[in-house]
Amino acid sequence: MFQQAELAAIRGKFHFVDHDPEGRRRLFFDNAGGSLRLKAAEAAFARADAVPDCSEHSNRVARQLDELERRGRQDLLECVFDAPGGVLYPSYSASQIMMELCRVFSENAQGSNVVATALEHPSSFDGMRHYAGVHGREFRVAPVNPATSGVDADAVLSLVDRDTAILSCMYASNISGYVFPVDRIFRAAREINPGILILCDAVQHAPHAALDPAAVGADAMTFAPYKFFGVRGFGVAWLSPRAASFMHHRLLAKPADEWGLGSPAPGHFAAISEIVSYVAELGAHGAPSGASRRDLFQRGMSRIADHERELLALALDGCLGEQGLRAIPGVTVKMDGSPLESRDFIIGIEFAGKGCEEAAAEYEHCGVVAFERSATSIYSRRMVEAFGSSGVVRISPLHVHGPDDIAEFLRVTREIASHARA
Ligand SMILES: Cc1ncc(COP(=O)(O)O)c(C=O)c1O
Repeated sequence: MFQQAELAAIRGKFHFVDHDPEGRRRLFFDNAGGSLRLKAAEAAFARADAVPDCSEHSNRVARQLDELERRGRQDLLECVFDAPGGVLYPSYSASQIMMELCRVFSENAQGSNVVATALEHPSSFDGMRHYAGVHGREFRVAPVNPATSGVDADAVLSLVDRDTAILSCMYASNISGYVFPVDRIFRAAREINPGILILCDAVQHAPHAALDPAAVGADAMTFAPYKFFGVRGFGVAWLSPRAASFMHHRLLAKPADEWGLGSPAPGHFAAISEIVSYVAELGAHGAPSGASRRDLFQRGMSRIADHERELLALALDGCLGEQGLRAIPGVTVKMDGSPLESRDFIIGIEFAGKGCEEAAAEYEHCGVVAFERSATSIYSRRMVEAFGSSGVVRISPLHVHGPDDIAEFLRVTREIASHARA
């Protein structure tokens, strides 16, 4: 785990770690909804965005903005996606990108069926289903395994055959935290059908581990910077050279693999470079001299993953004298079936005799922000019902948190649970 001095320095680099914009003390455990913001990323965005020049023009300041975009693109390809051979598709949100890729892939794929998992975010699930209908393809869904809180690789692969046009399988679930063995799934899917097109939503995995779309064999991998210490209003996908060559909405005089449409906002790219610099700085701890920015970024992400996994264990099993979630009477940890190595730090809990909306409101009253993932929400129903729940309170801290925060959260949880049982 990060030691105290380093953790204090890390916390100083983020906005609103322990208080809200009105100065009230709080623990922000809703990072899966939108993560705490890196100050340097927000500042870089604001600096660039204040400048009126058009980065595609030729004046000096315009060229500086263009350079910010060039560096941000390089950081995305070489560090965030670790796949310089691909092409970037920037847009307003990850959902927009995913829906558009469902359309484009559907128009270019061969085969009579498509496969998705039951845990996909609605942007890929609904996009896959809609365009399966448009193209007369069978829509197949791999069910969850309540025992593992994920979808078994075999359940996905049993639906893939030589006629599968597209597979959509996310990297990690935004409901259960389950990390899919995408490497194994994608490799085996290609052995069954070498022509299959593979979509991977990595929005929820990106803040917790390094991404690797080319290594795992995806044709597209999406990511949303606002879940990864960055700025809202931006989403990016990595596309394989094959996917990038598909006909898509573009100005016809531009290169065939240009996926950006309209004027870019250089501030978003400047913010990405700050995030990469921050993670690379974490990775510099104990790194061999001369390590590349890419290597430092990878090391930084694995330090984040290690720290968060330790925190996850503390939350489940207890720390600093507080009982863990698994032991607090009146609390049930849902989706708790997988080893911690295959989970990102997202936990869903239920309270005996108390709905998730009420529990989330009580958390807020006690200074903890967590989110209710309720079966009444279009974003959660399919997933929570698959796990036999009418809704959970989703707990999603970040690597900036430490054991003290987890102990405080456990104390509040114990208090809420004791009210529920009284
Ligand atoms: C797993 C997953 N995919 C996609 C999205 C959509 O991202 P965006 O808000 O950028 O459209 C989310 C947002 O919560 C998500 O959790």
